[in-house]
Amino acid sequence: MPRSTHRDVLPLFLDRWSPRAFDGSPIDQATLFTLFDAASWAPSAFNYQPWRFVWALQGDASWDALLGLLLPFNAAWAGKASALVFVLADKLIVPPGSDQAQPATTASFDAGAAWAQLALQAHHLGLATHGMAGYDHARAPEVLGAGDRYTVEVAIAIGRRGDKASLPEALQAREAPSPRKPVEELAFAGRLPA
Ligand SMILES: Cc1cc2nc3c(=O)[nH]c(=O)nc-3n(C[C@H](O)[C@H](O)[C@H](O)COP(=O)(O)O)c2cc1C
Repeated sequence: MPRSTHRDVLPLFLDRWSPRAFDGSPIDQATLFTLFDAASWAPSAFNYQPWRFVWALQGDASWDALLGLLLPFNAAWAGKASALVFVLADKLIVPPGSDQAQPATTASFDAGAAWAQLALQAHHLGLATHGMAGYDHARAPEVLGAGDRYTVEVAIAIGRRGDKASLPEALQAREAPSPRKPVEELAFAGRLPA
């Protein structure tokens, strides 16, 4: 079922969705960096650009380490993606006019904007993305080199859509664009309702 709205929303927003069936075909580093480029144009507080991307292409030296961070539920299908990316956010900012680092209170929000732009650029290039919070949160900082400074925000599988018959039956049933709540349930003039 194609998604629809009666409002004048760019088709890009309706047409992007998160499949789990990927075809395993390769993408090159230049394509991946086009996605990071799009992500990097996201707005951020003080233009601090707190997002960082740790990536692996299918089969390269870091692939197994990144795939190994995903929880089994995700690894089962994301292993056929063309690239895996973890989005990290810098927890510290030195605001303009200061020489003191302080907590970057908007880092996660800003990294979320970058992920959205990456996903939409991928869609524009005929690629699908699927965000995943289902990874080993205890091990990820060490494996990704995050140290104390960066938070690991999300993992992303990127690739070309594959045949949904490649998925377990339960996931085949979910391999479709999902609906959204009506805007009227989400937007309020002046104040949230009591
Ligand atoms: C931060 C984040 C975490 C997610 N974690 C998972 C996950 O671990 N596994 C999964 O299958 N889908 C995951 N998803 C996908 C969402 O379920 C999906 O984006 C949502 O249902 C909306 O569907 P759509 O992206 O197709 O529009 C995640 C999405 C986001 C943005």
